Amino acid sequence: MADSQHSGIGQHSGIGLEVRGVSKQFPNGGQVLEVLRDVSLELGAGERVAVTGESGSGKSTLLSLIGGLDVPDAGTIRVGDATIERLDETGLTAYRSRTVGLVFQFHYLLQDFTALENVMLPALMIATGGRGDRTAIRDRAAELLDSVGLQDRRGHLPAQLSGGERQRVALARALINAPPLLLADEPTGNLDDRNSRVVEDTLFSLVAESGRTLVLVTHNRELAERTGRILELEAGCLIPV
Ligand SMILES: Nc1ncnc2c1ncn2[C@@H]1O[C@H](COP(=O)(O)OP(=O)(O)OP(=O)(O)O)[C@@H](O)[C@H]1O
Ligand SMILES: [Mg+2]
Repeated sequence: MADSQHSGIGQHSGIGLEVRGVSKQFPNGGQVLEVLRDVSLELGAGERVAVTGESGSGKSTLLSLIGGLDVPDAGTIRVGDATIERLDETGLTAYRSRTVGLVFQFHYLLQDFTALENVMLPALMIATGGRGDRTAIRDRAAELLDSVGLQDRRGHLPAQLSGGERQRVALARALINAPPLLLADEPTGNLDDRNSRVVEDTLFSLVAESGRTLVLVTHNRELAERTGRILELEAGCLIPV
């Protein structure tokens, strides 16, 4: 069995996040769409925040910048000791796979792989290939599936899971590399009330147990309130609600 240091369960491993003066534009048919104008946000290690805002206000754009999937036009994003825009490709790859865990509205599980294999994949991608690696990763993945209540669904393909179960697999997958920062983009936006509740409870209990830093994008006010701090994206800026 994997030790708790590597399991992503039960460890205290948040990380500080500082977004300062970030702007992001997209080309828009010969014009420029200014999505983020001047976004700043500071989160201490283990703190949680919800980001709300109308559709198209830039919530997913902001998460993709924090997640190192896109680069800001101006401003700076620091996570722990790393300044994202200063990382080279190798640094960025390491940052994306080890520092951040991403959960999206749609699970993006690989259809031909079982729940267990889907959870294992991000860890296999950065494994060094040493003997026993695969076994250790399998143990960790199994432990994570247990922790999201899917101990009896390890061998199921995504098509054989309910929507809420798929999102819980996606949550386990986001945590397999024990990232200190979890970014969740409408993780329950596609689920009915009952399944939403199960996924929310799982998300919050895992985050609380591990002391992870959480940025949660949601339209759902009740869910947002569970973080204790709500910010709204409006006209390209983040303002407290
Ligand atoms: N790659 C891109 N190229 C051009 N425009 C983009 C791109 N990505 C996003 N946009 C535009 O930027 C704006 C913000 O998009 P974003 O996905 O961040 O919104 P959102 O707040 O997440 O909305 P939703 O609540 O609907 O998910 C939208 O108007 C969108 O059309
Ligand atoms: Mg979005």
